[in-house]
Amino acid sequence: MDLIKAIKERKSFRAFKSDPIPRETVQEILQLAICAPSAINLQPWEFIVVAGDERERLSRRLIKAYKEKKISCGPGNVKPMPKTVTKRGAKTLEQMTPFFEEMGVNTDQFVNEGSCSFYGAPVAILICLDDSFPKARLVDIGIVLGYLVLIAHEFGLETCPIGLITAYEDEIKDTLNILENKSVVIGVALGHPDTSSPINRFKSYREGLETFIRWIE
Ligand SMILES: Cc1cc2nc3c(=O)[nH]c(=O)nc-3n(C[C@H](O)[C@H](O)[C@H](O)COP(=O)(O)O)c2cc1C
Repeated sequence: MDLIKAIKERKSFRAFKSDPIPRETVQEILQLAICAPSAINLQPWEFIVVAGDERERLSRRLIKAYKEKKISCGPGNVKPMPKTVTKRGAKTLEQMTPFFEEMGVNTDQFVNEGSCSFYGAPVAILICLDDSFPKARLVDIGIVLGYLVLIAHEFGLETCPIGLITAYEDEIKDTLNILENKSVVIGVALGHPDTSSPINRFKSYREGLETFIRWIE
């Protein structure tokens, strides 16, 4: 089944070719992504598609903000996370390290500045949510994001969700004239992967399913 194949193949790419993506293709992907379910069918998502020179301009602003504030990729948790969970992030970074070494780049700089520049992807999609919604509607944004990344893969394109940029929401809103009452929940880099980049050979691991399930029956 194509869906299972796409689920197994999809991964986040962290180096993209600059080749532009036709507006119609982005539109087709989003048209399918909005088939995602949402509570009471509210369809609370709003997409801001930033491409070409505007994507470059946004990235310049984000990199400047990152250099000033140095807020890096992080889960933004409100309490210390359980050790079992922090270990997963650490293990993932550790498994990425040989690829960064091969590239001769500093991991933090590559990931943080790379995230700000959408890893060179020609298209950045920002998914926004109106502030009138409760936090529970973030579930709907997550689902549409899940659809989007799988559909993009099905179209022969690849993605990387970019949460880091939400630390610079004020700068994003200012650069793109986004209304004050909208939250930028997540960004997504979309484009053709640069298959010559070592980091794109990296595939993240998953814990065994038994780690996540508790059966009550
Ligand atoms: C909500 C969210 C935010 C993310 N933010 C970033 C980010 O800012 N920078 C980045 O390089 N990857 C980011 N990622 C990608 C994750 O690191 C990646 O999904 C995870 O390591 C699992 O790898 P996979 O997508 O290749 O399966 C994000 C993913 C999600 C779902």
